[in-house]
Order: sequence, then C-alpha cells, then structure tokens
Amino acid sequence: MRCGSGYSQDRTWSRRVQVNIVPGDAIQGKGYERMEIAVQTRPERSAAAEKALQQKLGFGNVLADEMFMMQYTEGRGWHDAAIKPYAPISLDPSAMVFHYGQEIFEGHKAYRWDDGRVAMFRPDQNAARLNRSAERMMMPSIPESFQVEVATRLVQRLQDWVPTEEGASLYLRPTMIATETGLGVRPSKEFLYFVICSPVGPYYPTGFKPVKVRAEDKHVRAVIGGTGAAKTGGNYAAGLYVQRQAFEAGYAGVLWLDGQEHKYVEEIGAMNFMVVMDGKLVTAPLLGSILPGITRASVLHMAPDMGVEAEERRISIDEVLEGIKSGRVTEAFGVGTAAVVTPIGTIAYKEEDYVITGDEVGPMALKIHKTLTDIQWGRQRDPYGWMKIVIE
Ligand code: PLP
Ligand code: COI
Repeated sequence: MRCGSGYSQDRTWSRRVQVNIVPGDAIQGKGYERMEIAVQTRPERSAAAEKALQQKLGFGNVLADEMFMMQYTEGRGWHDAAIKPYAPISLDPSAMVFHYGQEIFEGHKAYRWDDGRVAMFRPDQNAARLNRSAERMMMPSIPESFQVEVATRLVQRLQDWVPTEEGASLYLRPTMIATETGLGVRPSKEFLYFVICSPVGPYYPTGFKPVKVRAEDKHVRAVIGGTGAAKTGGNYAAGLYVQRQAFEAGYAGVLWLDGQEHKYVEEIGAMNFMVVMDGKLVTAPLLGSILPGITRASVLHMAPDMGVEAEERRISIDEVLEGIKSGRVTEAFGVGTAAVVTPIGTIAYKEEDYVITGDEVGPMALKIHKTLTDIQWGRQRDPYGWMKIVIE
C-alpha cells in the first residue's frame, strides 16, 4: 500500500485517524504530510445493507448508508475530512456548481471474492484521472494516496454493502463540486469532495447480452480541445437529449462520432468502443475528446497476453459498417467500469440497422470479459498487480 496509517479493521471507530501522505504525492505544490479523517461509530451489522442486498440490484438505485466528505478552501487546502452517515447536502443556491458546472467525478468498484476477501480494481488510476479532470476544470487536486486510502476505509466500513450476488459489486462514486457562492464566471475558491457507494448489478438490465446502439450523425458529445477527456458532468448532460431519442427509438445507447467531421467513431455514453476488424482489436485513440477509460487501458494492456493484436487508430463509421457488411468486422463491444464488457449486436446509422455477429456474443468479447472479470473477482492470478485487497 502506498499510504500507511496503521489502522485496524475495527468497524466502530469514533475518533480521528491520521493518514500519512506519500512524499511527493501531487497536490498543487502544497506539502501535505498528513491528513486527518474523523469517523463516527457504526453498528456491527447494518440492517439496511441486509435489506438492500436482498433485492435484485440494478445500477445506482441503492446507496450505502455512509459516505466520505471533505471541504477545500483556497489558502487552507483540504480540511474537515470525515466518514459519516449518508445524508443530503445543504448548499447555497448561488453555489457555483449549479451555474457553471464546475464538477468532476469518478467511478470504480470493489469486488467480493469467493473466499470472502474484498478487492478494488486499479483505484490509483481513478485517483490519477480525477486529478487530471480537476486540472482541466480548474479544481484542486487531492493526493492520490489519500484518495485510495479514503476508498479503502470506506469499503472496509461498508463491508456489509459489498454484494455477494454473482456479477454484483460495490460501486464507488468520488465527486467534487464547486461550492463558493457568487454569480461571476470564474473558478470557485471552495469545493466539496465526497464519495458515495452503491451496491450494483449489471449496468444494462439485460446483463451480458448484445445491445443495440445508434450512431449519431448530427449532435456531438465533445470535441478535441474541449472537455471530453475530463470526467465532468457537462459531458453527460450534453448527451442526454440524443440519448433520449435513441432510447425512444429502441436503442440502449448512443455511439458518438467525432465532433468535427461526424465521421470517426469515438465512444458510447458510458463506455469506450472497440471493434474486431480482420481479427484485430481496434479502438479510438486518445485525442482529447473521449474519456481515457481505465477498462480500455486495461484491455489494451492485456491484449498481447491474450494473443490479440490491438490498434488505437481513428476508424470511420463507414469503415465499421462496410466491415460489418463484408464480414471484416466480426465484433463490436463497449468497455467500462459500470458496463464491464458490453457486446454490441446492432449499430444503427442513418435509419439503417447493421447486425453484427448474428446478434450473438462474439468470442473476443467473451474472452476479454472472462479474463477481466476473473481478475476482478480473484478467480485467476492477477499478473498485473491491479487488484488492491481492502478486506483480508
Ligand atoms: N467513456 C465514458 C463516457 C464513460 O462514462 C466511461 C465510464 O467511466 C468510460 C468511457 C469507461 O471508463 P472506465 O473504464 O474508466 O470506467
Ligand atoms: C463508470 O463506468 O464508472 C461510469 O462512470 C459510467 C457512468 C456514467 C454510468
């Protein structure tokens, strides 16, 4: 572990814990050596968790009963860190987040293994991405080691909320918002960072089955030079109108094309997009308009070990559709934390549906899904050191 503080797994803390920050861990030039988290008493077992986990889990509609929260004030830095009961937040109506959208978030998961241990997948990568989003959105960074430590302690506290159901996990949603009051357009000097947790099942109710997506040729999600690579709420708000139209036409999501030429395939609403073309895995490069997905990076990293050649290159919607027609494109799927590996059975474009692999799950999607989820659930050795055990 990069961050040591000598805690126990005692679940009834009601005290302040000191967290040592790894020397050199970036935080806007400030030399934080130690941060403190206040933690309140928690009952040995959570009746709310027991009840919540009896139901079939969807995505994000059940929230665990504790959260982490801390505040930032310019000149003072991060302060008042605490793990406390999940509760509404009271904010001034002129808080800047409501007006100019200074907001960023992350998403990662903790998995319960068959032997009872619980592990998180690459939380350091989410912490690093949060800081990159923060930089783009003029928000303060948080030492990566502290973010990981917070997630670790939260999962330990909320261990009753980590589901045992096949394919289910505890999703963590770190979020930062601008809280300074005032209506002038400028970066806020005050922020709130909080982490909420949700026991989740599959993102798509259909589970690991091919979905239909519609390629969008008029509206765009993001452009190169914009904020597409930052995980900020505005990118998602920008997609809602088109997403609704796609839903109403019977599609599960939108396949976004590039913002300049409406030509190159970029990503889907909540996942990166990959195709298998001539046996090779092809995905869009990181040019600043798509989210640099951690699942995407992990799949590209694993590909050679799975005997798969992978390529990051611009691929046009015409090339994809021609490939489907000619049989050169044999699979398409999305990858992401929430969506894991989601096979795509149909791509619609300009009112025409193109069916891939006979609307079946293809062998590459199956193989990647199995390898990734076997690592995440501790069913196979983790050769990359990606899993961080948080409950032994
Ligand atoms: N693209 C978008 C727009 C997303 O919201 C997500 C989900 O976080 C992804 C891609 C996949 O990213 P990751 O694999 O880090 O979850
Ligand atoms: C995730 O996969 O973590 C995401 O953030 C997707 C979310 C927008 C549903």
